[in-house]
This record gives sequence, structure tokens and C-alpha cells, in this order.
Amino acid sequence: MTPKKRILSGMRPTGKLHLGNLVGALENWVKLQDQYENYHLVADWHTLTTDCEHTKSIHENTLEMVMDWVAAGIDPVKSPIFVQSQVKQHAELNLLLSMLITTSRLERNPTLKEQVRDLNLDSRMSLGHLGYPVLQAADILLYKGDAVPVGEDQLPHIEIARELARRFNLLYAPENPVFPEPDGMLTHFPRFPGLDGNRMSKSLGNTLLISDSPDEIKKKLRGAVTDPQKVRKGDPGRPDVCLVFTYHKRFSTGQLHEIREGCESGALGCVDCKSKCAVNMIELLGPIHEKRHYLEANPNIIRDIIEDGNARARNVAAQTMGEVHEAMGFG
Ligand code: TRP
Repeated sequence: MTPKKRILSGMRPTGKLHLGNLVGALENWVKLQDQYENYHLVADWHTLTTDCEHTKSIHENTLEMVMDWVAAGIDPVKSPIFVQSQVKQHAELNLLLSMLITTSRLERNPTLKEQVRDLNLDSRMSLGHLGYPVLQAADILLYKGDAVPVGEDQLPHIEIARELARRFNLLYAPENPVFPEPDGMLTHFPRFPGLDGNRMSKSLGNTLLISDSPDEIKKKLRGAVTDPQKVRKGDPGRPDVCLVFTYHKRFSTGQLHEIREGCESGALGCVDCKSKCAVNMIELLGPIHEKRHYLEANPNIIRDIIEDGNARARNVAAQTMGEVHEAMGFG
């Protein structure tokens, strides 16, 4: 039997996750669990690249995020969940890899250029921010990840990780390469918009959280934007421009036809359409909520899961760094 390929997936700890995270990433991680060997990284150092001033909430945000991972179905026995800052080899490999890439290569990174524009950084970019794809490469290569599930914006970073793996192998281990070149696995999902129709994002305040209670879900959905041409029940609507219909596509799969027809003919008003959506969302999230409530009541479980994951990650990381030292000729 050929050994399973290894996936390294990572997320910055942003605290409680939203449905965009669930549909766009988590559900995919859960699906891949049996087919691959998975390592799930909480990239806490990475939060410092864009926000080095607020460190006090990182730990709490880590616990909340991991709680959502486990509630959504990540099995920590199969797939270790661990924290970047607790496995020091990430820093060591980051240092070594940072010698193998030029600053001008890092400045050409389109994702970074976008951040500079969006956050108005210009000449206020930290060294750590410029180099964050190198740290990400260290995250992946330390575990010899074959594949990394990512969104489109992260593909340039995977390319940098590939270049670093190639360069390391060529320089220090041409006969017996240490690192595989990781592939990006694009997660294909329909865009999951926020309640105002923009990208769902905490900073935009338009999220539905995985952990929102049934009442919160109902209330938030009542305020969601709909097709502006459909003002009252009886007006024909356009499901394809309505964000609530996008939600139905994920949460009301068996009723899509009927909902589309009702919206288009005008027979189904937006208020009823939204409450149908809320009912289905609440039902689908039910098992996740149940598990989350249990984890909330027993906080040691998450702590133990992370501790166990850290220990398993450290083992792999130490093994890889042994090979790195040997290839480079450090004793
Ligand atoms: N850079 C990723 C982000 O901002 C997070 C991340 C850090 C990551 N290390 C990783 C993702 C390793 C995948 C693999 O979303």
C-alpha cells in the first residue's frame, strides 16, 4: 500500500469562525480526512504580520477557532491540530529558508501588493510581513506537506514554498531531496457572501457565525439584503441575484426548485423565503452546535487536543530538522 499523501492546512486564529469559513474551508478539510494524512495548523504567529499590537486575544481566539474545527467534524485523533508558536522548529526553518530567497522576489508577491494597497502600508511594511510567505513555506515543508488546501489568494505563497523546496534540495540535498514540492489544492465553492452581499468577513460585520444560536440566525437572516427589485410579496424576484438564494443552494438542497419557482412567480415572499432558509440552516448546524456546546462545557477537551497535536507535530518537526541539519552539514 502506498502511504497516504500528506496535507498541511492552516488558518490564522480569528476566533469564532463564520459560515464562509465552514463552506469555503472546513467542510473540505473534513472531506479530505480519510483520503490523506492531515495536519491542521493554527498560524498564530501569522496574525502578527498585520496586527502586532493586539496579542492578548490570540490565545482565546485559538481556542474558539479550534472548537469550531472540532465541532465541524475534524477528528483530532486522525488529524493532529497544533499551534505554530508551540513548535519552535517553525522559527528555525523560517530563518534558514529566508536565506534562500531575495527580498525582491518577496516584493513581487501579488497577494502582498494587494495587502499593501488595502491596508495602506506603503513604507510601513515590517520585515516579518514581507517574509510571511517564507514562514508559511516553513509551516508546510516542516511536515513535508504534499498538498495545501487554499483559496486563490494564497496560491502565490504556495509557489514560493515550491521554489524554496526546490532551491533547498538543489543546494543541499541534490541526491536525496528532503522536501516535496507542495501543490495548492483550490477549494471550489460558490462564493459565500455576507449578509450585505459583500464577501463574508468579520471586519465587515456581515457574518453568520457557525456558533450563532437559532435565534441569532433567524434575526440576522431577517436583515439580509435581497433582490432590490422584489419589494413586496407578489413581485417576481430573481434568485440568481439574491444572496439568500445562494444560502439556499447550500442549506436547502432538496427544495431549490420550489424556492426558485416561488421567488420568480412572486408566490413566495422574502420574509417566508428567509424563514425557510433559517429553518434549514438551523437544522444543518444542529449537530455542530450540539458538539460545540459540549466542548464549551468541557474546556479541557480542546486544551488536551491541542497539547496532543503539539506533541505529535513536534515529533515530525524534529525529524525533519534532523534531516535539514544533516543535509546542510550542521552537526
Ligand atoms: N497565510 C495563511 C492565511 O493568511 C495562513 C497560513 C499560515 C497557512 N501558514 C499556512 C495556510 C500553511 C496553509 C498552510 O490565510
